[in-house]
Amino acid sequence: MKIGVFDSGLGGLAIARAIMRRLPEYDYLYLGDTKRVPYGGRSQATIHEFTSQALSYLFEHDCQLVILACNTASAEALRKSQEEYLPRYFPDRRVLGMVIPTAEAVFESGDPNRVGVLATSSTVESGAYVRELVHRKPGVDVVQVAAPLLVPLLENDGGKYLGPVLDDYMKPLQEASVEAIVLGCTHYCLLKEEVRNRIAVPVISQDEVIPEKLADYLCRHPEIECRLGRSGHTDYHVTDVTPGAMRLAAQLVHDSIILTRVDLT
Ligand code: DGL
Repeated sequence: MKIGVFDSGLGGLAIARAIMRRLPEYDYLYLGDTKRVPYGGRSQATIHEFTSQALSYLFEHDCQLVILACNTASAEALRKSQEEYLPRYFPDRRVLGMVIPTAEAVFESGDPNRVGVLATSSTVESGAYVRELVHRKPGVDVVQVAAPLLVPLLENDGGKYLGPVLDDYMKPLQEASVEAIVLGCTHYCLLKEEVRNRIAVPVISQDEVIPEKLADYLCRHPEIECRLGRSGHTDYHVTDVTPGAMRLAAQLVHDSIILTRVDLT
């Protein structure tokens, strides 16, 4: 069986690639809902509906374990999926998200009293990062900034416009003197160096956190690990294929990959 990696689009390839580099022996199925990206401004009900469709697809295509690389899906749909969807439809499968391992990583790299979170509007509104950070350190101050322009700029080759936009999103974090910053969106690990150049505090980038957390999870769960295939093969499925998507995918994985168009509905 495979490890599924789900994202609303292609940004999750940055995290998938880091996972595959750390754990190259397993088989993977990447699913990007490129037809309906972005999820970041949608309602919780819609994000949950789309995430359930993606989970069904991945489980029906032989995934034992699914990583919700999409922070928006993790923030808005993971808990409900784990509590309601999985026990009902796929009780022997597992789904893991981004928020808990990222919140853990914040306090593994220091003991900040004030943490900044950059994320999509839906992730910010969900309060998921605030909940998980405060759960680990009661009283920690969390300064959230919704950064809705970053994903469209990154997805549309808008690199040259990023500077002033990022400056603007970083300003409230700098003014609040945060002591660590969470990049709480799949795409933002592509900006980690730009963020690090603007502020001298630990910047938690999920491509540097999730692979190790997954390796640790698999060590602690041999009953899941022993079901995983080990031929090192990866398939990439998306819900729409455009020349732009193919360019972005090649840029993110530093290689040309075959994107297979599939239907989730
Ligand atoms: N994948 C989303 C996330 O990590 C970003 C793109 C979107 O808004 O769908 O939050």
